[in-house]
Amino acid sequence: MASDKKMKIGILTAGGDCPGLNAAIRGVGKTAALKYGMEVYGFSSGYLGLVNNEYKQLTLRDLSGILTVGGTILGTSREKPFKHKEYDKYVRKKPDQIKENYDKLGLDCVVCIGGNGTMKTAMKLQEQGINVVGVPKTIDNDVWGTDMTFGFDSAVNIATEAIDRIHTTANSHKRIMVVEVMGHDTGWLTLYSGVAGGGDVILIPEIPYDRTILRDYILKRYDEGKPYSIVVVAEGIYVPPRKDGAKRNKSAGNYIAEIIEKDTGLETRPTILGYIQRGGSPSPADRILASELGAYTAQMISEGRFGEMAAQKNGKIISIPLKKVAGKLKTVPADLPLINQARSLDTCFGVRL
Ligand code: F6P
Repeated sequence: MASDKKMKIGILTAGGDCPGLNAAIRGVGKTAALKYGMEVYGFSSGYLGLVNNEYKQLTLRDLSGILTVGGTILGTSREKPFKHKEYDKYVRKKPDQIKENYDKLGLDCVVCIGGNGTMKTAMKLQEQGINVVGVPKTIDNDVWGTDMTFGFDSAVNIATEAIDRIHTTANSHKRIMVVEVMGHDTGWLTLYSGVAGGGDVILIPEIPYDRTILRDYILKRYDEGKPYSIVVVAEGIYVPPRKDGAKRNKSAGNYIAEIIEKDTGLETRPTILGYIQRGGSPSPADRILASELGAYTAQMISEGRFGEMAAQKNGKIISIPLKKVAGKLKTVPADLPLINQARSLDTCFGVRL
């Protein structure tokens, strides 16, 4: 006889925040409660909430009106419960505390919404006997196994709008404007916003740039009567250490602006977009993707499909084992068609054609 015990699920959001997190929480929570009759609990501040047993039951009232709200109503952190230097024998292992809290509350599953690091921790919790389902999110779109993560489309919109604005001031001053875009160690966000924003130069970590090619390209544009250029730079590109060994300002945008002005003699200014790329209300596309992934996650739980991550593949929502995702980074393939298409529009990637 089917057990009439209500399933209890926990939800947490971990890692960098992004637009769409609340849409995902709503997607999981409403589907779980309304379609599957589950009890839903929200843990605060990512995995820290699980370690410290900080949670509250999420009612349908809590879950309504949050689809369009940026950030995460649960809060987030970059807590990594399995990461520790050496354990003092007096300090209880955080994973043990999580298991104890999970059992005490009588949870059947924890939904872990996050990026690469979150998926890695989720896999380790599953190995500890804690049922988890992963939901991929990040503005970086660098989670292996899913074509797209929510947060990415919103960030592309934000960065593109910023680049559009930079065009007008570059034109007014006839300056070279460098725009630094987030993306951690990959170039997805820079590539998409760079193409959408009509960047003349796009530098991403996956395509190592040559400084002299950058110089020649910008001077060629200048000689052709195009005195201003827009240079879109991923924060994760290579920045050489300073000759004097002093710690270089980490910003890639500042470094590229510095060398362009030095090499070309043209007035150059950097703009670091930073955290505005993670703020505000999610785009419609992100609201849809987050809702789809959320609803599908509740279905996975109802079917007992734990240790997996919900994902989008070729326009379909599917799930893949966390073991296949954990520790893998989805980088921009050098032969991505978009790169060749941009090149045919004379976009410079810092390398000889
Ligand atoms: O992963 C999202 C992201 O915004 C990256 O693009 C960026 O490098 C990183 O988070 C910044 O981390 P933090 O929010 O800890 O400063």
